[in-house]
Amino acid sequence: MPLSAANPLFKSHMDKKAIIYYFTGTGNALRMAHLAAAELEQAGFKVLLADIAANGRKVGAISRHPDDLPSGNRGQSSISPEHAEAELIGIVSPVYGFGLPQLMAKFLRKLPPSKSNQKCFVFISSAGNEGICVMQAAFHLKRKGYDLTFARTFKLVSNWIMFETLPDSETRKNIFDENEKLLQGYMKDIIDDPSIKSVKYYHSNPAMAALLGIVYYGFVFFGRHFLGKLFATNNKCNSCQYCHKHCPSKTVKWVEKRPYWGWNCQQCFRCINLCPNGAIETSTVAVIVFFISIFGGPFLFKKLVPDALLDYAGALKPVLENLFAMHLVFGIIGMWLVQILLSNRVTSGILPQWFTTRNKERYREPHFRP
Ligand SMILES: Cc1cc2nc3c(=O)[nH]c(=O)nc-3n(C[C@H](O)[C@H](O)[C@H](O)COP(=O)(O)O)c2cc1C
Ligand code: SF4
Ligand code: SF4
Repeated sequence: MPLSAANPLFKSHMDKKAIIYYFTGTGNALRMAHLAAAELEQAGFKVLLADIAANGRKVGAISRHPDDLPSGNRGQSSISPEHAEAELIGIVSPVYGFGLPQLMAKFLRKLPPSKSNQKCFVFISSAGNEGICVMQAAFHLKRKGYDLTFARTFKLVSNWIMFETLPDSETRKNIFDENEKLLQGYMKDIIDDPSIKSVKYYHSNPAMAALLGIVYYGFVFFGRHFLGKLFATNNKCNSCQYCHKHCPSKTVKWVEKRPYWGWNCQQCFRCINLCPNGAIETSTVAVIVFFISIFGGPFLFKKLVPDALLDYAGALKPVLENLFAMHLVFGIIGMWLVQILLSNRVTSGILPQWFTTRNKERYREPHFRP
């Protein structure tokens, strides 16, 4: 129920500003951000909902219900001019690879320091394991002088269709309904009691957090770059450019009337899930070539190239002798070659393409339109 304008609580919040910064791949985090914004507005706050990947597009009005979920990429990418005046700041993000998406982590790293110890809340949209997300956000916010008062993780539908199969639509609806109720309860706590302190870490065990942290940094520094190269189009692609226009990382390039996946993929799975023709798959050929090149490449190199030849490599010699560096180099070469072959009309027709996502249902939050 919206608070009436005469309600003392509404009056006490009436002139307050709140900003919710969010990142989303397929709309789950946006739905949470949007619901939080609607609750704050109902309590009298003036709310700005800002997409950290939107590159300066302007924010629109916040509607009362997620059924009216607005276009996803609205808001301002960089820090809002009203940032310093906001009494409350929300950070809403999905978890990818047990941590925050690289863009969100970067955004938090660059957040301007808070001069007035502004209060913050953090909501994470997950498929059940937030990893180190809340810890990461807490670390950056504290470092910049913010007061993180509330943090929760929502278990929503997984958009990682490469490995997961979606629950049916009824189950998905129930998942959202349950989480909506939870969120409304949390927002009530945040709004009613400004002194609240309730930060929930999914993994408070330091050993588990360290382990997930290692996996996360492997994902952010290496995994996401390579995994983005596994995307390929099937013969349903009609060159509509949707994937190119809506990639939040701007890594889907447009080359010879076809999408070409660059190296800066966030692994948000927006392109593959939202392609209007279901024309994007993760290529099994690419997965196989990746493993052969990353593990077989250095082995073959060692067998075939005589040590004496390395003396001619000059400054490159230490790289060629370092096994880890060679795995990386061969991984990059393999993925780059595969991408070229899969992006070209002639060679992509010749290469056998078994796809790990073939015939799998695609996912988006039902109201999400980027
Ligand atoms: C590459 C990738 C990695 C993911 N890793 C995790 C994870 O570590 N833990 C988890 O609970 N969910 C994970 N997910 C699922 C998403 O966090 C979850 O579906 C989230 O609600 C998506 O939000 P969005 O629609 O706003 O992008 C992953 C999804 C993708 C695509
Ligand atoms: S969105 Fe799909 S159909 Fe459109 S260009 Fe990309 S892959 Fe092709
Ligand atoms: S390439 Fe696809 S998965 Fe990667 S960041 Fe862009 S939209 Fe997301």
